Amino acid sequence: MEKFVIIFLFIIFSSNTYAQEKFASLGERLSVSLDGNWKIIIDPYENGYYDYRWEENPDGFFKNEKPHNKWDRIEYDFDKSVSLIVPGDWNSQRKELFLYEGTIWYKKSFNFQKRTNTRVFLRFGAVNYQAIVYLNGKKLGSHEGGFTPFSFEITQLVREKDNFIVVKVDNKRCAECVPTLNTDWWNYGGITRNVTIVETPVSFIGDYCIQLHKASFKNINGWIQVNGSRCGQPVTVDIPELKIYKRYITNSTGSLHFSFPANVKLWSPENPVLYDVILASEKDTVRDLIGFRTIETKGTQIFLNNKPVFLRGISIHEEAPFRSSRANSLDDARILLGWVKELGCNFVRLAHYPHNENMLKEADRLGLMVWSEIPVYWTIKWKSKQTYDNASLQLSEMIERDRNRASIICWSVSNETPLSKPRLEFLKGLIRQARALDSTRLITAAMERHYTDESTQMIDDPLGEFVDVLGCNEYIGWYDGLPNKADTIRWKTIYQKPLIISEFGGSALYGLHADSLTVWSEEYQESLYKHQLAMLQKIPFLSGMSPWILMDFRSPRRQLPGIQDFRNRKGLLSEHGERKKAFYVLQKYYEEIRTKQE
Ligand code: GCU
Repeated sequence: MEKFVIIFLFIIFSSNTYAQEKFASLGERLSVSLDGNWKIIIDPYENGYYDYRWEENPDGFFKNEKPHNKWDRIEYDFDKSVSLIVPGDWNSQRKELFLYEGTIWYKKSFNFQKRTNTRVFLRFGAVNYQAIVYLNGKKLGSHEGGFTPFSFEITQLVREKDNFIVVKVDNKRCAECVPTLNTDWWNYGGITRNVTIVETPVSFIGDYCIQLHKASFKNINGWIQVNGSRCGQPVTVDIPELKIYKRYITNSTGSLHFSFPANVKLWSPENPVLYDVILASEKDTVRDLIGFRTIETKGTQIFLNNKPVFLRGISIHEEAPFRSSRANSLDDARILLGWVKELGCNFVRLAHYPHNENMLKEADRLGLMVWSEIPVYWTIKWKSKQTYDNASLQLSEMIERDRNRASIICWSVSNETPLSKPRLEFLKGLIRQARALDSTRLITAAMERHYTDESTQMIDDPLGEFVDVLGCNEYIGWYDGLPNKADTIRWKTIYQKPLIISEFGGSALYGLHADSLTVWSEEYQESLYKHQLAMLQKIPFLSGMSPWILMDFRSPRRQLPGIQDFRNRKGLLSEHGERKKAFYVLQKYYEEIRTKQE
């Protein structure tokens, strides 16, 4: 017996992976932020990971070695190296890293006073793109995908003094990756969101879902998963404002399901009501602000709380205004979504990947409906199992992180992906997975369309059969003709489903003025919007739009000197928040729709 215990412990401690854990919400748990300055080593040749035979080096930089005597030859030293701020991308922090794609090692030292009978986890909000994480020289594990959270249990490894976390971050693009080699956004690398040490009771509330029943306003449904639970553990659901206090018992798998009547004020853009919801197990408490609403389609319309709604939207990249770096803070979210509200929107497309949690919580608070998507973008490797598993992981991580956000009304599984059988099978698989994880929201994708004749745009992408809402990007007047071409175009589809025009637009350099046919001028963009809006409002099955895009953003594919300079200029605002003429065209249009809908 003793021998088996030793073997078991050996396997646990020697195997270099530690359990990845889910945290639906950090809740009110004891947590220590590791944000701030982290020491870095820039390592283009991955010299800290591979030896000269390109074999994994057991004495790599993760050991954070120090010379022990005068002849000890250690060829790196984190503590003598420069620092980067976490959370943050590296491209905007140091000139020499502006275009850098490769490996950078991050190191953070910390002390930690662990309490008795607790467990300890290390949580990353996001790391772009691949992260290999070590604690005190031990490999915890790795994560791929730049926009979703991951955590490791470090209960057995963390010590009181002189802990050191080392993370090998690599943002190199690859064909099998998600996204793949080619994107129209900046490949910001680094530890781009918060890093937290979370201490929990031995058994804690690992995951939960609380929402209105799909088609009824009168019932709240949900489930709770207790991590490290034993059967029969008491858990309570408390919604003070609704005078609801329910007590449940976990089953043998530590989970419970519930359903109870409730008279809620519905969450909507006009009235974004959020309720304080408190979940408590014997030793753990999680608090969340949750809105209750229903979302569904009927024919070619979208219904919010059983009322038809038109989505007055705009698309956004997760880029910070004024400083052109990855946005991550609540302030960033407040500025960006504040501009969205000023535009008169009730909807925002968070492109092309899951944005940080501050964006979603702010959208909940402001009453902005959200389209959230995973970066299955352009020419993904459809036949690659590795690619599918990666996309599938990003999808579940996105839904698990944000399933309690009332603002999110639809999950999108892809953007502008070329028609093919492998593509269809790939995306059908993701759609099945999304529906299994969350049956309460709409599924969509930005799909293909084509001309059936010179003035008819047809949406008959086979993917349309499997989504709830048709999404479609079109650039009539920019990549396709001049702005007035829109006057001649009508839209058709073979599907009896609502359509969201998920992108349209054209570029303009703020302050460049000319006649409306001079490309790059504000007048050209203004004219394009006028022709577009006139065309779009003639589409009988149109239920919303999210023009491309709120603000000019960095792109490695935009190299026109004096105009683009590595920026996509399709914003209605410059990167400094300066409003272009088209901003007011859309604002006026949305105001007209809003008053008409009242
Ligand atoms: C595409 C794509 C965007 C891109 C835009 C553009 O439709 O989805 O990511 O930035 O077009 O060309 O500006």
